[in-house]
Amino acid sequence: MDLDLDAHLTTAEAAVADAVDLDALAIVDTELLGRKSALATVRSRLGDMDPDDRKVVGRRVNEVRTEVERLISERRAELAVGARAEVLEAERLDLTEFDRGRRLGHRHVVTQTWERLEDLFVGMGYTVAEGPEIEDEWHNFGALNFPLGHPARDMYDTLYVEYGEPQSTLLRTHTSPVQIRVMEEQEPPIYSIMPGRVFRSDTADATHMPVFHQIEGLVVDRGITFGDLAGTLDAFTTAYFGSEFTSRLRPSYFPFTEPSAEFDIRRPDGSWLELAGCGMVHPEVLRSCGLDPEDWSGFAFGFGLDRLALMRHGIDDLRELFRNDHRFLGQF
Ligand code: DAH
Repeated sequence: MDLDLDAHLTTAEAAVADAVDLDALAIVDTELLGRKSALATVRSRLGDMDPDDRKVVGRRVNEVRTEVERLISERRAELAVGARAEVLEAERLDLTEFDRGRRLGHRHVVTQTWERLEDLFVGMGYTVAEGPEIEDEWHNFGALNFPLGHPARDMYDTLYVEYGEPQSTLLRTHTSPVQIRVMEEQEPPIYSIMPGRVFRSDTADATHMPVFHQIEGLVVDRGITFGDLAGTLDAFTTAYFGSEFTSRLRPSYFPFTEPSAEFDIRRPDGSWLELAGCGMVHPEVLRSCGLDPEDWSGFAFGFGLDRLALMRHGIDDLRELFRNDHRFLGQF
């Protein structure tokens, strides 16, 4: 026998351990186990040996081969971990490096407006409530005194969701359905605001977006009057815009309020701007929520939240709020 198998195994062990990377190991692998390797040569000569030797040598060759295979695969796993770490290190992105310290992000101008309004009303003793963006027909329309087929429903370009009966499920067209949910869930007295995202199938232009934000207000208590509504909105105007601003109410129509009004503010230059719809909660709406209009009365209002942001910052295109161009957003 011309190969000392034990010595060969020792050499093999050293060669495997010395392979510095996966490429070097691949070469060692071919040298030790390939067709031209010493082990392969011994094997090919087994046929020439006498049967007793063949049995002993054959078994030992297989043992050595198995052991060399094991060593190689162990070393391969070891090197692979190292290689992965190297790739990770080489491809690492230092995200802290970008404009460090100078250009911290901040809240979006709509979020700032949203939070400012919440702070203001919470300061006046209101709580903040929320409702689902996917609504049922009853909360968005029915309970708000829009009967089925009532033309007032056409004021809203409703996006319906394919769920349940046709037109039974929709993306809420206003935050008013949250009024209903609040009245269903809690007993008066209620002093709540309800900010949120609303949806209409409108084409985007400078004053319309298919997705926008509103903030709803609802007060239900004993003996609430139209004077309370006017006083509250006036207090809001001064607190939000400053003492140079005043407000007025103009008659209007909404199915869920009676009487209904539009709320305008007067800017220091004397011009008027329409900001919200409002009115006294309609007795039918109170009844829909299980409240007796003989005992309870209330007022409600609904602002376009994005509009307030535009107005406050002198922005003239609503679409800017949704483009997420940081050169624009960075100004606020
Ligand atoms: N929901 C109305 C709209 O989207 C706005 C509105 C008007 C809300 C009058 C009110 C209200 O609460 O009393 O057009």
